[in-house]
Amino acid sequence: MSNTENYIEWDDYTELYQAYLDDPSEKVLSTTVFPRILQILGKVSGKTVLDFGCSMDRFSRIMHDMGAMVTGYDLSPKALEIAKSQDSKRNIEYLSRQEELQENYYDIVICIMVLLCNPKAQAFQLVNDIYAYTKPGGIVCFVNTNVATLGRSYQSFFRQLPQEQKEGSPYQNRIFTPKGYLVITDYFYSPEHLKQMFENNKFQLQGEEIIAERSILHILKKNLE
Ligand SMILES: C[S@@+](CC[C@H](N)C(=O)[O-])C[C@H]1O[C@@H](n2cnc3c(N)ncnc32)[C@H](O)[C@@H]1O
Repeated sequence: MSNTENYIEWDDYTELYQAYLDDPSEKVLSTTVFPRILQILGKVSGKTVLDFGCSMDRFSRIMHDMGAMVTGYDLSPKALEIAKSQDSKRNIEYLSRQEELQENYYDIVICIMVLLCNPKAQAFQLVNDIYAYTKPGGIVCFVNTNVATLGRSYQSFFRQLPQEQKEGSPYQNRIFTPKGYLVITDYFYSPEHLKQMFENNKFQLQGEEIIAERSILHILKKNLE
């Protein structure tokens, strides 16, 4: 599947997204959520890792430095250009064409704050595609916004929830950054819907955790065939 719908949007947002990532007040994902993922995964050295929707590769580079063989995939070529220029000395593979990803290849897939950027049909397809890329027995970690606490979890997010909170309804996510507001469209997915999407795509659910109120982490396994 090649999703072009979000392509322009994310290419245009690179600078503001970088400003958001650099802002010390917004480090929950890197200081709390990602360390928890590493704790769950254990040893990553020597493993094949796919960072699906890696953007400017903040997590790919950590896993690379821990000895993993990392592929960073994102549909925004501009984000990948920045990632490459920042990490030119690291041996990370960067891909912006989904067709280049290999099936049944990755021991670990991380997909952090990506599913919620996609409308319902694409989100379902994305989970299906990730299942295909994962090696049998492999582990996948999805992180999404925990919609149950939207609007009150932390100050700098100003969210306009959809009037009718249907699964897949778009809502505007207005994020403060030191360089201005980053306004993006996210899609509403309840924890129940996320779980259903994973299980309908044959994943075995190994765990679900709510982290710092705002994030929901799902740990999934692809069964040995
Ligand atoms: C909120 S950012 C998260 C980036 C990164 N995972 C992180 O946590 O820093 C979302 C990223 O997902 C990418 N993305 C959204 N939908 C995608 C899709 N269907 N396929 C590949 N990349 C996608 C966007 O281009 C963007 O870089």
